[in-house]
Amino acid sequence: MLRKLLDRLYPLVRGVMFWFTAKDPEKAHQLIEIIAFQIAKYKIGRFLQVKRKTPALFSLSLAAGFDKNAAFPADFYHWLGVNRIVIGSVTVKQWIGNSRPRVARFKSDKTLLNWMGLPNDGVVKVMGNLKQKNHYLPVTLSVATSPDLHDYRQAELDEFKQLLSFIETANDIDRIEINLSCPNVADNNMANNTKGGYGEHITNILTLCKEHNKLGRLIFLKISPDLEDYQLADLLKIADKFGIDGLVISNTTTNHSFKAGNNTNLKGGASGDFVYLASQRLLKKVIAEYGQRFKIILCGGLSSVYKFEQAIKMGINDFQIYTPLIYRGPILISEVIRLFNEHEDKHKHRYISRKNNNNN
Ligand SMILES: Cc1cc2nc3c(=O)[nH]c(=O)nc-3n(C[C@H](O)[C@H](O)[C@H](O)COP(=O)(O)O)c2cc1C
Repeated sequence: MLRKLLDRLYPLVRGVMFWFTAKDPEKAHQLIEIIAFQIAKYKIGRFLQVKRKTPALFSLSLAAGFDKNAAFPADFYHWLGVNRIVIGSVTVKQWIGNSRPRVARFKSDKTLLNWMGLPNDGVVKVMGNLKQKNHYLPVTLSVATSPDLHDYRQAELDEFKQLLSFIETANDIDRIEINLSCPNVADNNMANNTKGGYGEHITNILTLCKEHNKLGRLIFLKISPDLEDYQLADLLKIADKFGIDGLVISNTTTNHSFKAGNNTNLKGGASGDFVYLASQRLLKKVIAEYGQRFKIILCGGLSSVYKFEQAIKMGINDFQIYTPLIYRGPILISEVIRLFNEHEDKHKHRYISRKNNNNN
């Protein structure tokens, strides 16, 4: 009841919030965090929950960048309706990122641009926060190397090693997402930037990941929708060779040719409706070339039930959203859960037979 009200009222809330935070949209994010804490404090969350069927064959989480520092209360995720939490991207040391404002809204295109530059509190602080939050949902940690490492391949590897060693035994994380696709770092920042090329260097990074995976966590590579076909082919070959479990398709795009972005001098990565087609191109290429070899987490402009339905038809059952939540609000999650529930009913027999096979 209260959730329905929230879902319906969100456009109004969004209008006021967008107006007050027009100069610095990041303030809206801070506001949401404050509201999330108030909801947790006054225990209102249980009235906002959407009913999910179990077993959950489908997964929905907020994408990396939403909760960079594991700051949001556990209660927020619970009532919002996601069933996985993504934290980060984190780097070894604290990183301030670019100066504000570093996010811009393009309402008519339902698109955001961000050039945040990976701000985060550093892995030690973030892992401390995560412990305190005591999440009862599975957690993915998104990791990246520091944006100031320009063409220092050995330094990047040393950083990755430190980071992976630090989290190696943390049993509150069951997936690692390697952010290979932040568009807001220098071109010669090899690990983070797609233009850096995926040769020996990525091979070295993946070797480290394998060496520091005592807990057998699933490893995902988050890739850029701007990859040329040959770059994608190179990357997939390496990912396959290293037994990488899956791909997050995709990060933001440096293409700015959305309606309001045309002929303007913009910086940063675009997310939301505008990135949808680019991430779909990547998805189709990966499936065409590798079939079901990689587990795919789809992300990028998933702003309607129709888009989710299309993806489910292609065999996707793991999703992330960020910008569509900002434009559509919690109603998007309510609608998607309803869709998941319908599919979970339809596919229940598959789950039961899988469970029986496992027990035999
Ligand atoms: C403000 C903002 C910050 C982001 N920060 C990160 C980040 O730290 N690491 C990362 O891998 N992706 C980051 N992303 C990219 C998102 O995780 C996601 O891949 C992208 O926004 C496309 O999905 P969407 O259309 O649902 O927003 C960020 C996106 C936004 C809008």
